[in-house]
Amino acid sequence: MHAQAHPIPQTKPVQMNGAPTSNRKLLNWVAEIAALTKPDRIYWCDGSDAEYQRLCAELVVAGTFKKLNEKRRPNSYLALSDPTDVARVEDRTFICSAKKEDAGPTNNWMAPAEMKATLNKLFDGCMRGRTMYVVPFSMGPLGSHIAHIGVELSDSPYVAVNMKLMTRMGSKVLDVLGPDGSFVPALHSVGAPLSAGQKDVSWPCNDDHKYIVHFPETREIWSYGSGYGGNALLGKKCFALRIASVMGKAEGWLAEHMLILGVKTPEGKKHYVTAAFPSACGKTNFAMLIPPESFKQQGWEVTTVGDDIAWIKPGADGKLYAINPEAGFFGVAPGTSYETNPNCMESVKANTIFTNVALTPDGDVWWEGMTKVPPAHLTDWQGKDWTPDCGRLAAHANSRFTVAATSCPSLDPQWDNPAGVPISAMIFGGRRSTTVPLVTEANTWNEGVYMAATLGSETTAAITGQVGVVRRDPFAMIAFCGYNMSDYFAHWINVGANVGRASPKLYCVNWFRKNDQGKFVWPGFGDNMRVLKWIIERVEGKASAQQTALGHIPDYSDLDWSGASFSEQTFKAITAVDHSQWQQELALHDELLTKLDYHMPAALQTRYGALKETLTA
Ligand code: GTP
Ligand code: SPV
Ligand code: MN
Repeated sequence: MHAQAHPIPQTKPVQMNGAPTSNRKLLNWVAEIAALTKPDRIYWCDGSDAEYQRLCAELVVAGTFKKLNEKRRPNSYLALSDPTDVARVEDRTFICSAKKEDAGPTNNWMAPAEMKATLNKLFDGCMRGRTMYVVPFSMGPLGSHIAHIGVELSDSPYVAVNMKLMTRMGSKVLDVLGPDGSFVPALHSVGAPLSAGQKDVSWPCNDDHKYIVHFPETREIWSYGSGYGGNALLGKKCFALRIASVMGKAEGWLAEHMLILGVKTPEGKKHYVTAAFPSACGKTNFAMLIPPESFKQQGWEVTTVGDDIAWIKPGADGKLYAINPEAGFFGVAPGTSYETNPNCMESVKANTIFTNVALTPDGDVWWEGMTKVPPAHLTDWQGKDWTPDCGRLAAHANSRFTVAATSCPSLDPQWDNPAGVPISAMIFGGRRSTTVPLVTEANTWNEGVYMAATLGSETTAAITGQVGVVRRDPFAMIAFCGYNMSDYFAHWINVGANVGRASPKLYCVNWFRKNDQGKFVWPGFGDNMRVLKWIIERVEGKASAQQTALGHIPDYSDLDWSGASFSEQTFKAITAVDHSQWQQELALHDELLTKLDYHMPAALQTRYGALKETLTA
């Protein structure tokens, strides 16, 4: 690796009496948590570039980061995690509402007092020997009426530097917070205190105890034992989805696991579309889509607003407006290449933190799918020698990059607009090798809500546990809804009713149908533009479609096939509604509706009944 050319300045501890805020609530909370967790030092992050550089240099000295070759990958780092700490831990994630029904059957629950007692024991002294970083962050443009402030207290400098890329972070947030502003307190510890003289490991975490805990009533987050991704970067899933979904329910808006993209038509009309796909099912790719050459020539253009989370609110004109609460991407590396996602490859050319990818002999990164021919020799994500025939993955299947949104060449000019962007269509989709057609348009808002509520998808490496099993993942929110899922469905129905005629059209897509040889049938990636164009033309009332039992589905001739060689026969195979497959699918819907029986909206039961009748006829 390349040695540091300059000496490493130490991060200066700041005393509480030198804290850069007069916010009483914040000062009291920091003092209270410091007394509980007993860190050696407290450091208030200012969010400056100099601070980022300094913390990264410290992470290099600590062995958490390797600095990548400055020529090949400027200002970029590689972190290799503990092999037991590589993904979100859904079985260790809790919604601790006062009442169990309010968490609902899709969430783990424990009574708040009992959980607090457990956590207080674990957090007692858990930051010994470490620095506690105070990380003020804004989800959404600073000062926007849609944005909300959080403060993360973490003993992980890896978290602090990731939060700098992923959120608006630092002193400017404290300025907006002011002396009386309120914030969501988000406490995080890797759960690995150091005794005097004990040498630290490169990726501290706790193998025995992991808790990702949310208290929806008091809007607090406590996370213990993991340093990875959504377990530790608490602005993301914990705040922007689980806590924000509760806020949205109370205040009439939506916090969703959705990308946001812009589409410009050849006539110059700008549309914005959101899409909810489960983890590692194509949000980043779709958000950064580059249309096929023939579409570009016609004048179609796609731009990126966000790749993971959307906060959606009704505007004064009755339309739904979306903002991306994040300011960066924490994206899946494997499968990303100049063929599948050139905008993403350009985004991570520099100024990027890579986690759990492989290292090339010349100090650059590699992952499965980046190039057709793998390098002859690598250091894998566990630091071991790797050759193409060794039988192991070079990069972990959930390896990721962290990069600021401003590094993305397709970033939409409105991405930072505090008012958000108006939404024309919302798409839902999962990874389904059978049954679910390429694209279906819901006839009504409520039929779309049913479609999204009963979404199924094969599990991916983004979560710990088995990969490739079909599970119901309503709205791609199974792991992220901070309250009872049936109440969440009801909230969606209400939002649609309030928006009324201005409501976006709702769609279901499936890029992942496989043939008898187990190969994907649909080319995907840039070719998804063919479906997106049809959706936009439906919104504009220009494209035709056939009514089916599920909703409107395009005929072969309804899609633009310019520059493609995709046969009508194959198209029919991936758009057909196979009634016998759908009867099996409906049995799974029934299971879900039964499980979520408490507060299930009648409209969804009615839709199920109607579908059953049509599909068994
Ligand atoms: P999270 O960040 O986990 O929420 O996931 P994401 O939805 O942003 O996932 P991402 O876009 O990074 O997709 C990850 C995987 O999906 C990669 O392995 C991609 O190669 C694959 N993928 C994305 N789009 C397509 C597609 O259109 N077709 C196929 N077959 N695979 C795709
Ligand atoms: C997901 O798992 O949906 C992610 C990655 O977006 S993480 O931030 O780890 O939740
Ligand atoms: Mn996600």
